[in-house]
Amino acid sequence: MPRVPARVLPPAFALAALTALIPLGGPAPAAADSIVVGGRPVSVADSPWAVALSSRDRFGAERAGQFCGAVAIGPTTVLTAAHCMGRTVLGGEASGIRDLRVIAGRDDLSGPGGQEVPVRSAWVNPDYDPGTNAGDLAVLTLEQPLPGDGVIPMAAEGDAAYTAGNEATVYGWGDTTGYGAYAATLHASDVQVLPDSSCVRAYPGGPRGAYDASSMLCAGDTAGGRDACQGDSGGPLVADGRLIGLVSWGSGCGSPGSPGVYTRVSAAIGWMPGEP
Ligand code: ARG
Repeated sequence: MPRVPARVLPPAFALAALTALIPLGGPAPAAADSIVVGGRPVSVADSPWAVALSSRDRFGAERAGQFCGAVAIGPTTVLTAAHCMGRTVLGGEASGIRDLRVIAGRDDLSGPGGQEVPVRSAWVNPDYDPGTNAGDLAVLTLEQPLPGDGVIPMAAEGDAAYTAGNEATVYGWGDTTGYGAYAATLHASDVQVLPDSSCVRAYPGGPRGAYDASSMLCAGDTAGGRDACQGDSGGPLVADGRLIGLVSWGSGCGSPGSPGVYTRVSAAIGWMPGEP
């Protein structure tokens, strides 16, 4: 993605100013047609950096208001997808949300446990393009540090973790069926880093969306069945113990020939705010 000067806005203005950059709509929203699809329940004890984004005001109390995934890269620094801070997801301006929180250390969103930490400010990549989903990244700064050592290192450009064919795992509390069956507990699905050509073929532009290898990463299951899905957005894709992607978009969930598209984390290293 194009490099931009990393600039942290004053917290009071951050949400209001930056969400103005995100118009309504976007390409190829993943249609609800399949199932973290093909996943298994996992424990946040083993993946403490996998956190949930929540607003009970906007999304109701049932699953603690979870609406997107996120991942901790520093004690007070959490990455998510830019589109998670947009009107299409939030149904309004992010600045209007008074109870934006990160939930850490809780497997089951319907129960207690773990910690809910308020988000102090959100930096939405000013180069995020809602038309193509390029640069789908936001950096949240928390009011208080997350407990323990629950942060994950990011894989820099050239890291072997990005190699096509490598095993990767995607984490989330999103839809497990493709029909709006949102998970109460954290799930993970094992996918493969796929060559850029797979996503170029699947998403050549037009209504299905356009894959841009410089800012996006392609991963999935060539046979279909394993994928991220709605509600997983912003959550981590991990390979070799390092963060390589954030759940961004796709066509359907787990359909053969329609891999998941992730924000390429290496493209953001070096210029986003709050890097450890
Ligand atoms: N846009 C979705 C979200 O906001 C994520 C979709 C990911 N889809 C996929 N097939 N990998 O939660």
